[in-house]
Amino acid sequence: MHYNHYGRPPLPFACLGARGVELEAVELAGPRRGETFTLFDASGGYGSACLGAGHDTVRRSLQRAVTDTGYVTDEIASRERAVLLDRLFGAEGLWTDHFPGDAYHVAGRNSGSEGVELALRLVLESRFDPRRLRHRPERAKRDTILAFEGAWHGWTHGLLPFLNRRHYRVGLPGPVADHDYGLRVEHIPFGDEGALEEYFAANSERLLAVFVEPVQGDAGILLPPPGYLRRLSGMCGDNDTWLVADEVLTFAKTGRWFGMHDAQGPVPTDITVIGKSLGMGALSTSLVIARRELRARATGTISTSDLRPLTCAVLLDGIDHLVSEGLLKHSAELGTRLADRLQSGLVERFPGIFTHTRGLGVMHGVELSEAASAQLDVLRTHLISAGVYVEFMAGAGKRSHGLRYVYPTMRIAPPLITSQAQADEIVDRLGEGTRRFQETL
Ligand SMILES: Cc1ncc(COP(=O)(O)O)c(C=O)c1O
Repeated sequence: MHYNHYGRPPLPFACLGARGVELEAVELAGPRRGETFTLFDASGGYGSACLGAGHDTVRRSLQRAVTDTGYVTDEIASRERAVLLDRLFGAEGLWTDHFPGDAYHVAGRNSGSEGVELALRLVLESRFDPRRLRHRPERAKRDTILAFEGAWHGWTHGLLPFLNRRHYRVGLPGPVADHDYGLRVEHIPFGDEGALEEYFAANSERLLAVFVEPVQGDAGILLPPPGYLRRLSGMCGDNDTWLVADEVLTFAKTGRWFGMHDAQGPVPTDITVIGKSLGMGALSTSLVIARRELRARATGTISTSDLRPLTCAVLLDGIDHLVSEGLLKHSAELGTRLADRLQSGLVERFPGIFTHTRGLGVMHGVELSEAASAQLDVLRTHLISAGVYVEFMAGAGKRSHGLRYVYPTMRIAPPLITSQAQADEIVDRLGEGTRRFQETL
């Protein structure tokens, strides 16, 4: 009954339950049909289950939320919402260094895509006077949004033009460029400072906003060179252009809360959208943190479930747990070890199958060779039969400015609670599955 989004037969196993980072699975086909086995989860459920499965904090929090917190809508202030926002953005807040509460405001949405949609809406509304619905004269020429080759920001229709792949977009709604309030979306290569400078020099007067993933996820876990994000932020600031950071994937995965961070500290943004891990693997939710001057026309962006007390309780308890257990620091250390082990245990051991590994924290990509890309489904089946579940990203594909093609990439994004021993086991199992795959070549 379930709609098949993938254009290929469903995976030949099902999940019966899970605990921590281990899934209990059952074979659905072949001679072992009906047999159960254990799978290590190197995917974190599309990078969303930062506390793994069955975590006590989430259980206690949901219980407390269901029993005590009530269900009021965003129109009514709630104690849970007030405590959460104070904990994150108050004078002593966890994230006040990035987003001082007097300069930013926040809204909750149901998913990453909805969060990025709201960010788009806020930058579009900044072009005109919300009462008279006319252009602000100084913003009338700002009709362009810059995104990056390989970008991924979600599937909803406002975001389709951002997807830098024709086969995702063709025939579907897009911007109407010649309309008064029309929109142009352009793409340049990610991480190339020269291309960025060239683009700003030629287009800054038309540039309304730049949308960026601090580490590009679907493009194959591509990290920008040091200083690039700060340079981008500075150029946006100098040219009166909004900078929107899509941190739906990177939130709490880079060894820090935010990917927009470098040796000098937080990299300023005008809007930051976080999601996935934010819901602690229990809720689908996102948070849009925007400068206070960015707002939509009255009642234009109300959402039924914007920061309801139940959501706030799960976020608050989960974030407090990440802090008290030092899980971000742990993931930074885990990331260093994973990077080494993926390099020696996969890229160096199987040079015909894997060409590069990149990443940090709990977000790593191992890029396939052209030959292995053609047999991705076979490789994946061998990895699963060796007892490890991974996802594959599309890769950035063809890029301009002479940058090389990026092939599909295996994403290793295990939950934050993964131990060093479990991370080693994940790499060992990936090695074993790849060895079996290699024998078939
Ligand atoms: C960078 C980025 N933005 C937005 C999204 C969309 O999030 P959701 O699937 O929760 O709508 C994703 C999901 O993969 C993502 O990786």
